[in-house]
Amino acid sequence: MRLLVKGGRVIDPANHLDEVADLLVENGVIREIRPGIPEAGAEVLDAAGKVVCPGFIDIHVHLREPGFEYKEDIASGTRAAAAGGFTSVCCMPNTCPVIDNNAVTGFIRRRAEEVGVVNVYPIGSITKQQEGKEIAEIADLVAAGCVAISDDGRPVMNAEIMRRALEYTKMFDIPVISHCEDLNLAEEGQMHEGYYSTLYGLKGIPAVAEEIMVARDILLAGATGSRVHFAHVSTRGSLNLIRQARQQGLRVTCEVTPHHLTLTDEVVGTYDTDTKVNPPLRSREDVEALRAALREGLVDCIATDHAPHELEAKDCEFNLASFGISGLETAVAVILSELVNPGELDLGEMVRLLAVNPARVLGLDKGTLTPGAAADITILDLNAVKEVVPASFHSKGKNNPFKGRRLRGWPWATIVSGKIVALNGEIMV
Ligand code: DOR
Repeated sequence: MRLLVKGGRVIDPANHLDEVADLLVENGVIREIRPGIPEAGAEVLDAAGKVVCPGFIDIHVHLREPGFEYKEDIASGTRAAAAGGFTSVCCMPNTCPVIDNNAVTGFIRRRAEEVGVVNVYPIGSITKQQEGKEIAEIADLVAAGCVAISDDGRPVMNAEIMRRALEYTKMFDIPVISHCEDLNLAEEGQMHEGYYSTLYGLKGIPAVAEEIMVARDILLAGATGSRVHFAHVSTRGSLNLIRQARQQGLRVTCEVTPHHLTLTDEVVGTYDTDTKVNPPLRSREDVEALRAALREGLVDCIATDHAPHELEAKDCEFNLASFGISGLETAVAVILSELVNPGELDLGEMVRLLAVNPARVLGLDKGTLTPGAAADITILDLNAVKEVVPASFHSKGKNNPFKGRRLRGWPWATIVSGKIVALNGEIMV
């Protein structure tokens, strides 16, 4: 089986490549990239005027299966990923049962083989049942295929447990992904603590609730020599701490989300529960600091924290609504529209943040178009203009604060192991 992606601008930072060329895929593997490859019976995808990149990898996704299939399942979540331009996703362990043993890990991998349309890499929990009390069987999780561990959504409050987990993971060279939130400081909070929380009358979650845990985990990374990856970093103070840690040579990496890069706490004044997310949308100063950190190269990855919810979880009073944004289908368009097209972020940098670095952080054999690599490819149309219409999402979660916005720049084609799985928002398999 041969697929010829013809005439696109091919960007592959790993090979310092940025040129108009053809890309030939054979039997699911990238064979050759150069101008003027003959068609010779291959299926042809005309990519003239489009941008051809290594497949995007979202390292922070909630697929909800098993246990919460009314919010999302592996079939719908991977279809959403494909439509959104992602060829691989890593799924968080806050399922029911929790991904804290090899049986659940195996189940997810099998389901992904059966019904998934993109690659799925499970992330195991740090503690059994994510209860923060007893470390999970990490060796079993790694042997079963988990690429990292995290208690995402439920931070490990006990520093001793976190320390042991960090020491243990050193054996496998996988990162511990830290959801930084001091639950005592954040308790009952609904939005970022600041001017707008006072104005809107909603209890605030202070920036320090995140920063105190970033500081703790940096200290623990230093004490153990282990790898910590900070999930959804949202404040200027967290970035300052991470910068210092990097300068000290500690093995810390971090991700930011499209919503934290583009929305401030002011929008919560609509009382639209789709703006309720954890960590909360922060102040303008924080958003500016996140953007500056992207330009500086301090941020390793952009990840969605795709958190789909059923209608009832959001169609209620703000205080009662669940936290989370269904972000897989808008992430790439938001980054293109708000950062790349206005000239704030260059395309090569975007590819680093969405493909090269996610693969590096998790040790995945992905993130490049090098001949011989699996043909996971994301093709972008920088000029497409479309409105965000959650009702037409492939995800079961329609909770998205960008609804109604017209965005310029969208994923056009998603190719997994040489197979076109999504084209122009349609699923092809
Ligand atoms: O907003 C969020 N929703 N943040 C998290 O950390 C967890 C997620 C979820 O699972 O719904």
